[in-house]
Amino acid sequence: LRHLLTIEGLSGALITEILDTAESFAGMNAQAVKKVPLLRGKTVMNLFFEASTRTRTTFELAAKRLSADVLNINISTSATVKGESLLDTLRNLQAMYVDMFVVRHADSGAAHFIARHVAPHVSVLNAGDGRHAHPTQALLDMFTIRRHKGDFTRLKVAIVGDILHSRVARSQIHALNLLNTGEVRVIGPKTLLPAYVEDLGVHVFHDIRAGLRDVDVVIMLRLQKERMESGLLPSEHEFFQLWGLTEERLALAAPDCMVMHPGPANRGVEIDSRVADGPQSVILEQVSHGIAVRMAVMSTIMGGSMNQGSGA
Ligand code: CP
Repeated sequence: LRHLLTIEGLSGALITEILDTAESFAGMNAQAVKKVPLLRGKTVMNLFFEASTRTRTTFELAAKRLSADVLNINISTSATVKGESLLDTLRNLQAMYVDMFVVRHADSGAAHFIARHVAPHVSVLNAGDGRHAHPTQALLDMFTIRRHKGDFTRLKVAIVGDILHSRVARSQIHALNLLNTGEVRVIGPKTLLPAYVEDLGVHVFHDIRAGLRDVDVVIMLRLQKERMESGLLPSEHEFFQLWGLTEERLALAAPDCMVMHPGPANRGVEIDSRVADGPQSVILEQVSHGIAVRMAVMSTIMGGSMNQGSGA
């Protein structure tokens, strides 16, 4: 496997191998990831056509901790604003001897398109494409869950909110299934649940109180307004009343239930601040784990051992 474009196509064994590799980078303290020479002499280019805080910076830190040269292309000041096509931009950047592109784009399928057009020695990592996939987010979420809960087979995991527009939810559901999670639930209004969830063996709840009962992990998602038609935007106040995670609702879950959110979180819309900042929240841990997990993905691809499944 040359690229990481989706979770689909990977095996549970390969995901476990990536998480184990991430553990070796993170050690006991994921914040204190050591610098290693595994990608010395390699060039990684961050190509973000859409905004990012966590993913872009942790990819940059991860590549630097692997001793790669890292370039961040600022799309808004690049020649794409003068009308250069995506393919021409890509060919020119590739002429600078890039080994890996990390790509975020608002269009679903953009990372696949780029992967089809890069030179044979170049790898593409999908850092989020439209509402389609965000595989490294799902991997760092699995890493965080495993660190707290160990085995997935007895876990009940609930994903709440705007599943329809979420690339994170789709990648998480595939990863949770591949790791044989006991039960995966999705909770949200019918208008924000995609048809594909029916085919993935998840349990659907349209009542947040019933859906949260006894879960071990709850993953909150924001309303992804940038992917919604403007006339169909739900009221934030109403959304919070019906679907927001409050202390009172969290009390319905298992007493040691972890609260997760991929970020960015909208406080008072999908999550109350007392929960986001509360003792059960691992939201900032997820961000820290992004460094070790992205190191694991990049080193595995460059080491050539990601040779099972497609993922692409
Ligand atoms: N979770 C996530 O993708 O966050 P960013 O948009 O900040 O990268």
